[in-house]
Amino acid sequence: MNTPTPIPVRSPLPSALSGTTAVLIGGSSGIGLAAGVLLRSVGARVVLIGRDPDRLGAAVARVRSASPAEDPAEDPDDAVLGVTGDGGDERTLAEAFDRAGHVDHVLLTAGGLSGAGPLTGLSADDIRTTFNSRLWPAFAAARAAATRLPAGGSLTFSSGILVVRPAPGMTAPLSVGGAVETLTKALAVELAPARLRVNTVRFGRIDTPLLRSLPGLDSDEAIAAAGSTAPLGRFGTAEEAAASALFLMANNYVTGQVITVDGGETLT
Ligand SMILES: NC(=O)c1ccc[n+]([C@@H]2O[C@H](COP(=O)([O-])OP(=O)(O)OC[C@H]3O[C@@H](n4cnc5c(N)ncnc54)[C@H](OP(=O)(O)O)[C@@H]3O)[C@@H](O)[C@H]2O)c1
Repeated sequence: MNTPTPIPVRSPLPSALSGTTAVLIGGSSGIGLAAGVLLRSVGARVVLIGRDPDRLGAAVARVRSASPAEDPAEDPDDAVLGVTGDGGDERTLAEAFDRAGHVDHVLLTAGGLSGAGPLTGLSADDIRTTFNSRLWPAFAAARAAATRLPAGGSLTFSSGILVVRPAPGMTAPLSVGGAVETLTKALAVELAPARLRVNTVRFGRIDTPLLRSLPGLDSDEAIAAAGSTAPLGRFGTAEEAAASALFLMANNYVTGQVITVDGGETLT
């Protein structure tokens, strides 16, 4: 029987991501965009996927400007790529992987606020749509990653603290979050022989355009006031949230884990 080669040992510091390539599904805003900026700043190649072409174009420019090179204008065109499309569309993912040529890490932060509502107020179609638009992209990302990533590659998903602290009217989106966390563990054991790792970051309240789209949170003052009740006195930044994804990409001995970045909110 062939004994598979162990997963490579390498520096677990995020700086070691220099020269690797990451596909960020949902990378045109918030946590995904912040991950793109951090990755580019350590010299990684970045492929951003998002649906809105204008938002995606602005994000590509922002990530390009984070280059560690003295003159980012001299970076090769493929240092930062943007692929317009839905993260749940396998053709979009194939295009992203094809254009990248080589991909080491995949981060899925595509998501939104859809699917909320009391159980009896949701139609069967509403519920199916939530599962299709929010859970399926995790499977699509996993199917792409499983066939395309090299040994030592990683896949990182997103969930939220409401999974362990549910609020009424959230059955459909929270079922997706719970399923993503279970999928993380199931994939981690299934893909370990290929030396691929799978993890999830469970986010608390992170100051992003998504959070600011909630009622009453559309200004700096409102964000500061609402955040002041959090254990650490504010909401998390997109960079703090994204840094946890870089940790998971870089550390070759972490798999099947859900790590929480919530400023202690689930302890209260
Ligand atoms: N911020 C928080 O407090 C918080 C808390 C718990 C969990 N989360 C989760 O963390 C993840 C990132 O959140 P965020 O705050 O960074 O959100 P965000 O600022 O709204 O960014 C989400 C990004 O995903 C893209 N996107 C959404 N659906 C997509 C799809 N089907 N295909 C491709 N791209 C898609 C959006 O661009 P387009 O719309 O142009 O495609 C956008 O670039 C989400 O899954 C969210 O549910 C966030």
